[in-house]
Amino acid sequence: MKIAVLYGTETGNAEMLAEDLAGELEGDHDVSCANLSGFDPAGFDAGTFYILVSSTYGDGDLPASAQPFAKAVEAKAPDLSGIHFAVFGLGDSEYHETFNGGGEKLAALMAARGAVQVGERVTHDASGPDMAEDLAFPWARQVIEMAAGLVGEDA
Ligand SMILES: Cc1cc2nc3c(=O)[nH]c(=O)nc-3n(C[C@H](O)[C@H](O)[C@H](O)COP(=O)(O)O)c2cc1C
Repeated sequence: MKIAVLYGTETGNAEMLAEDLAGELEGDHDVSCANLSGFDPAGFDAGTFYILVSSTYGDGDLPASAQPFAKAVEAKAPDLSGIHFAVFGLGDSEYHETFNGGGEKLAALMAARGAVQVGERVTHDASGPDMAEDLAFPWARQVIEMAAGLVGEDA
């Protein structure tokens, strides 16, 4: 399957995870990995499954590198029907009121334009016991399996 791992980050955790995940998947799939900061929403392609990895900052907001993407989606209002995506969020439960708000906002942004979310959004907790990779690798395999019958089918 064609998979694009796109990340939003401020201090590099989401980037590191996205790159590790892309490396883990590339033996079995056609995988690319990029920062959301350089991604044009006009470039979404129905034949690609998008795995979005994003941290959270501010008042439960997207990290700096995902902000231009969010602004572009809001400004250009692209039709994302036929696009399938999954979201892995990074956050810290120390910020309990805004825990993982970035991933939540990213999912809502995509869904508002008609894109279809596949599987459950993961909410990684930097203060919790789990390594992000340990959650991400099995989760990614699961959402990819779920996406297999969907991506490119209803474009
Ligand atoms: C200044 C600051 C603000 C943060 N705000 C939140 C927040 O509101 N909610 C949350 O769940 N995590 C918050 N976090 C935690 C980060 O999202 C978490 O550490 C994440 O792993 C950082 O990933 P990154 O290096 O890719 O940006 C904050 C971290 C910092 C340093």
